[in-house]
Amino acid sequence: MDRLIKVMVADKDPLGRKGLIDILQKDKQIEVVQELDKEEDLEVSIYQTKPDVVLLNLNLNGTSIIDTIERITTSFRQVGVVIITEEGGNEQVQRALLAGAKTFLVPPLSDATLNNTILKVVERQRIIVPELPKKREAEIITIISPKGGVGGTLISVNLAVSLADILKKEEKKVLLIDLDLPFGDTSILLNLNPTKTIAELSREIDQLGGLDSEIFDSYLIRHESGLYLLPSPLKPEQAELVSSGHMEEILKIVKDMFDYVVVDTPKFFHDTVLTAFSESTLIILLLSLELPAIKNGRLCLEILNSLHYRNKVKLVINRANTKMGIDIEEAKEVLNCEILGYIPSDGKVVVPSINEGMPFVLTNKTAPISKKIEELGYKILNRKEEVIKVSLLKKLFGG
Ligand SMILES: Nc1ncnc2c1ncn2[C@@H]1O[C@H](COP(=O)(O)OP(=O)(O)OP(=O)(O)O)[C@@H](O)[C@H]1O
Ligand SMILES: [Mg+2]
Repeated sequence: MDRLIKVMVADKDPLGRKGLIDILQKDKQIEVVQELDKEEDLEVSIYQTKPDVVLLNLNLNGTSIIDTIERITTSFRQVGVVIITEEGGNEQVQRALLAGAKTFLVPPLSDATLNNTILKVVERQRIIVPELPKKREAEIITIISPKGGVGGTLISVNLAVSLADILKKEEKKVLLIDLDLPFGDTSILLNLNPTKTIAELSREIDQLGGLDSEIFDSYLIRHESGLYLLPSPLKPEQAELVSSGHMEEILKIVKDMFDYVVVDTPKFFHDTVLTAFSESTLIILLLSLELPAIKNGRLCLEILNSLHYRNKVKLVINRANTKMGIDIEEAKEVLNCEILGYIPSDGKVVVPSINEGMPFVLTNKTAPISKKIEELGYKILNRKEEVIKVSLLKKLFGG
């Protein structure tokens, strides 16, 4: 088992409980999650703390204890109930076993008897009730750059690739959705040639009246970094085929299938983008330090505020090292929003990367612009030590 075994102790007698807990605490694999002295609290507590084993002394009593054991063993199939009883083998114990308890123990108990019994019960329980594969609960990160040409697509692609690269070893899945429906170009930046896109997927959702993970999977293309891409339509006129209803279906399914989803958007707020906002855990507003970008950024923040999404928004400043008339302090004051990262301008790295369809975070890992995207990725993953490591390396080796 790759986590501690959670044990609940239910015994009317405080000394009895203490005796059991003292033994359990000697075993580093076991964690006592709760102690109880009343039968009535059992089921709610099990629901809340989800123990692997309940050590239940029949002194807990009440005429309904056998019924309670039966309810526990049928409703919480992953829980193993072990009876503690002063009088082994009597009728009450027989009934408890018939009700689904795994075994019984008679005090005084040695450390080895108690802890080995718990290990055995957990082992057997796992064979009977195998752990279900965990559902993923994707974080959805939508990137907007209300002034066109600021670098929204460039940053979306490289951030998504960087996250996929970081998370590859952990078998976590990252998806990029190209929601720039008329003019998306993420597949060009990734050198991928889609044949099916979000437009055909939307048509299929209409035909089927819904979507499942298998069908969704058949519309994705895999990049060598491990990233999955849902491409934008091949022709601008197909943009009309995709509605906010389709986007709702898509985001519902991706939450279970992926760990991180990056959404690249067009420079206007289409209905589908509003749906992405409502499902996003983070909205990145990408700006450069020039007056039109700051002006549009401010308007954008006002709209997001009126939609009640303001608390999800963080800023990223692109081409932050380029003098464009406004300095960072001024921008901070005007926008009044947390800044998550600064990306430098680096045409020498960026332009060939775009032309060759090779994301620079993979081909030019040590370039300052790549390090900054990596740092942004670690911030999104909430991995503070890695953020510090990346910025220390940058300080030591320049950039
Ligand atoms: N940090 C950077 N360093 C160098 N060049 C950059 C940088 N960011 C963006 N660019 C340049 O800006 C161009 C436009 O970027 P991109 O297409 O990502 O912008 P966008 O915001 O998605 O635009 P659109 O509104 O068309 O979707 C890129 O092709 C690239 O040449
Ligand atoms: Mg774009």
